[in-house]
Amino acid sequence: MTTSTAGIWNFESLNNLASRVGTPFWLVDAAALRRRIRAIKEITNTGGLQSRYAMKALSATRVLKEMREQGIWIDAVSGNEVLRALRAGFPAGNQPPVILLTADVFRDNALKVILDHGILPNIGSPGMVRQLADAGYNGPIAMRVNPGFGHGHVNACDTGGPSSKHGIWLSAAGEAADAARKAGLRVVMLHAHIGSGPKMEELLANLRRLAGEFARLATDFPDLEAISLGGGIPHAYKESQGEIDVTPLGPLFGEARELLIKAVGRDVRVEIEPGRFFVAPSVSLVTRVADVKKTSTNEKGQGQTFAMVDGGFVDLIRPAMYGSYHKITVHSARGAAPEKDIVVAGPLCESGDVFTRDSSDLLAPRHLPEPSPGDLLALHDAGAYGYAMSSNYNSIGRAPQVWLEEDGSTRLISRRETIEDILKAETDEAV
Ligand SMILES: Cc1ncc(COP(=O)(O)O)c(C=O)c1O
Repeated sequence: MTTSTAGIWNFESLNNLASRVGTPFWLVDAAALRRRIRAIKEITNTGGLQSRYAMKALSATRVLKEMREQGIWIDAVSGNEVLRALRAGFPAGNQPPVILLTADVFRDNALKVILDHGILPNIGSPGMVRQLADAGYNGPIAMRVNPGFGHGHVNACDTGGPSSKHGIWLSAAGEAADAARKAGLRVVMLHAHIGSGPKMEELLANLRRLAGEFARLATDFPDLEAISLGGGIPHAYKESQGEIDVTPLGPLFGEARELLIKAVGRDVRVEIEPGRFFVAPSVSLVTRVADVKKTSTNEKGQGQTFAMVDGGFVDLIRPAMYGSYHKITVHSARGAAPEKDIVVAGPLCESGDVFTRDSSDLLAPRHLPEPSPGDLLALHDAGAYGYAMSSNYNSIGRAPQVWLEEDGSTRLISRRETIEDILKAETDEAV
């Protein structure tokens, strides 16, 4: 958790904001976001390096605008993500390809958006060459490969290797490139995203290896203008981990570029496209403690103290989905209470709606100041794959997002969803 605009992290200020927007709410800390943008720009501020924001991590227009103002390009993974980026002011077209559309399958309006706005498609399946050509597309393409190796904080986030659905298998890339050439599509970029949230040393080793693979492949791609080493820069969710040092990535990207230039004898842009690293520390989910209740030890197991809060996995699903850890702080009008082991659970009619669990699905009570009804309880580092993966399960509307500016001012950047929002797609039409 960062302490910029730390002044808000007390019961009075938070409660003041909560009285205006209700709870739960998401708090987006502009200073923390800008610190991470600076860190990425520092490692890509030499020529020929470009960073994209994997907007799937958090797609709020205000966040996209911040990325645009800072010269960060976009990695989009659906037709609608492209339209969101265009509405946030990112330029259409592929000269240069500020917006990239990465997909293994063209769903819904993806093909139409590529054609209408001249967006560079990054294809992850060989058959997409035919689909593009049949749709009348004759522009440049990028190609996502599966290099056969990868990493991830959990298996589900490891996107490289034989068990990953993502990308064109490395040894099949040449054949796909031939098909593209025959269809009049120039392959201008090679891309691989091999996983999310690995350990830093694993990331460095794998990205070096990936750059080597691309240098070997590059000679078969006469129109190559760029390679992408994907995203996957980790974030330290546990206080014990300490801040992640990304500076070693700078020289690595420089080396990768030299390698590519040597391989093809001309300039090649090297790209990265983090999502998590940019936004994870900048957002907290602030919930209200509705009640505290206890169970007693019996033959089935250990008695627990449950802090029942009004935020649940409809808001932040990562603990329920991956057993992910998010730092928790309690803010009380009474000051800090004595600490004890607390299970923090949400309002959903779903026993899995618990924030304090580990990756083996077991309860992992957290040692916290014992909360009382009315206290505020915040889950930190919730910027990546937080709001973006929230849902309307139990017909609950998504919580509002509040932008906290560096001067301490606050703005609503998305309001709480209403029943009208939840039902707006419902209809009764003959089809
Ligand atoms: C194609 C692609 N690029 C980039 C990312 C961003 O990954 P991360 O948030 O780990 O940086 C993802 C995430 O899964 C992805 O699928």
